[in-house]
Parts: sequence; structure tokens; C-alpha cells
Amino acid sequence: MTTPAQPSGDTFELRFYATPRGARLARRLASHRVHEWGHRYGTEANDTVSLVVGELAANAVTHGLVPGRGALLRLVRPARGSIRVEVSDTRGERWPVPDGSLPGLSRSRSRSRSEAEPGRGLVIVGALAQAWGVVPRDGAPGKTVWAEIDASPAIGAGGGVTPSVRAAGR
Ligand SMILES: Nc1ncnc2c1ncn2[C@@H]1O[C@H](COP(=O)(O)OP(=O)(O)O)[C@@H](O)[C@H]1O
Ligand SMILES: [Mg+2]
Repeated sequence: MTTPAQPSGDTFELRFYATPRGARLARRLASHRVHEWGHRYGTEANDTVSLVVGELAANAVTHGLVPGRGALLRLVRPARGSIRVEVSDTRGERWPVPDGSLPGLSRSRSRSRSEAEPGRGLVIVGALAQAWGVVPRDGAPGKTVWAEIDASPAIGAGGGVTPSVRAAGR
């Protein structure tokens, strides 16, 4: 359902098929990677990354894909206890609109919606992420939806707090 994960230092990349199962696998493997980075299963950071990846991957599969093409998940641990989630899809002409779901902006519009209506996923992302947005996909047609997750310093898998990590060009 997915190509093999390609962990490399503080960046994790995974291509996944444009199916609900592919999106679920992306969420599970993101949780696993974050666990290995020291944010254990069940911690706030791990749960937050899992939820955000789940919503963005589901959106890529549901709204963002040209049939036959896959999606890409990227996790980057840039610095200072934050984790950046990026989900790229192949549909360049249609973008989600960051509006009331952005942190700090009014969510009155989303509150008035019922759970069954569209818009819940990005409201969740907006509530959990420090920031999120959309940019053109790097080097390929499509776009990347990104979210920055606040994560306290990881203890465990690397032997303790990691004070300095590669900035991954950002
Ligand atoms: N990756 C994406 N590509 C294109 N449109 C998107 C994408 N993600 C979200 N959207 C648009 O933003 C809307 C809100 O997304 P969301 O809050 O996740 O709600 P839902 O997925 O339930 O419709 C979607 O209905 C869709 O129109
Ligand atoms: Mg959604």
C-alpha cells in the first residue's frame, strides 16, 4: 500500500497510495517515526502529529489527487522542539483555504457547522498546529499542505534531549 519508508536523520519521507488505507498507513507510520524521535506513543506531541497527518493525508486522498498519482508525507524535525508535517498531493489547481481554522483567527464559522459538514478536518489542524498553510509543491505539479507542531524536547530514543538538529533548509 505504501513504498518503504525512507528515514534519514531528522527528515522522514513516505509515498502513499491515494486510498483511505494509504492515508491511515501514513498516519500510523508518522506516529511510529515520532515515537522513534523520542515522542512516545500516547504523548501529546505524538497524538498531535498523528491527528494532523491523518487529516492532511485524508484530504490529499479525498480532495487533492489526480487519479493514478500518489501522495507524499514528509516529517521534518527542524529545531527547538517543533515538528513540521508536510503532505504533498498532485492537484495544483485546487487548494484548501486557510481561514477561520487558522490559530488566532475567529472560528465562529466552523463552530456553526455541524459535524457532518465539510471543514472539520482543517479546523482540527488549525486548533492543534502552531501554524499551517499551503505552498506549491517543490519540483513537481501539485501543492504541499504544511503544519508546524509544537513538541517539547524529546527524551528517550536518542538517549535524551536533542538540542540541535539539522535545519533541513528551512
Ligand atoms: N489537499 C486538498 N486539496 C484540495 N482541496 C482541499 C485539500 N484539503 C482540503 N481541501 C478543501 O478544503 C475543504 C475543507 O477541508 P476539511 O476541513 O478537511 O473538510 P472535509 O475534508 O471534511 O471536506 C475541503 O472540503 C476541500 O474543499
Ligand atoms: Mg478533511
